[in-house]
Amino acid sequence: MSKNILKIENLNLYYDKKQVLKDLNLNIEKNSITAISGPSGIGKSSLLLVLNQMIKEYENASFSGKVYFNDDNKDIDITTLSNKELPNLRKKIVYVSQHPDILPFSIFENLYFPLKLQKIKKDDAKKLITEVLKIENLILELKKSCTIVIISHFKSQILNVADSIFKIE
Ligand SMILES: Nc1ncnc2c1ncn2[C@@H]1O[C@H](COP(=O)(O)OP(=O)(O)OP(=O)(O)O)[C@@H](O)[C@H]1O
Ligand SMILES: [Mg+2]
Repeated sequence: MSKNILKIENLNLYYDKKQVLKDLNLNIEKNSITAISGPSGIGKSSLLLVLNQMIKEYENASFSGKVYFNDDNKDIDITTLSNKELPNLRKKIVYVSQHPDILPFSIFENLYFPLKLQKIKKDDAKKLITEVLKIENLILELKKSCTIVIISHFKSQILNVADSIFKIE
């Protein structure tokens, strides 16, 4: 069984003629947390767009290289998937924006809203939400069932939770 869930080989990424990522290689282990760091404009978000192939929706973007995703113990090169296959891939490799959509209530009310729909009592919801809001807790919990690639500008947050740090320079 492969230890790596993602393998990026010789990735080059361009917007129009401007090269953003150059010959990038990265292996990501299953159930690990990888933090992507590097200065603003270096290509961190663009790298994440490659990982679920959202980059294909950008008309001015082009790339070369391979991105292998180990799905059911088979390595598939996701750069070769057809448009019809991509929605299924994006259910497995999910991009969570750094700009969350929140409703115009308090953070508590935002998190309580879906719980209320599930008829969870306010007291129970409070306990759940308090636990979840210790964010590092949430990430460590997720790691049991997911592999996480995170962009963070907060060094202490990275050091607390990441198994490895990948610097783009
Ligand atoms: N859609 C686009 N069209 C043209 N250029 C783009 C596009 N998106 C990003 N770029 C450029 O590509 C480079 C990498 O951008 P990217 O957003 O990946 O960087 P980043 O490392 O995520 O930066 P930040 O830390 O500010 O979020 C930047 O120079 C940016 O201006
Ligand atoms: Mg970014």
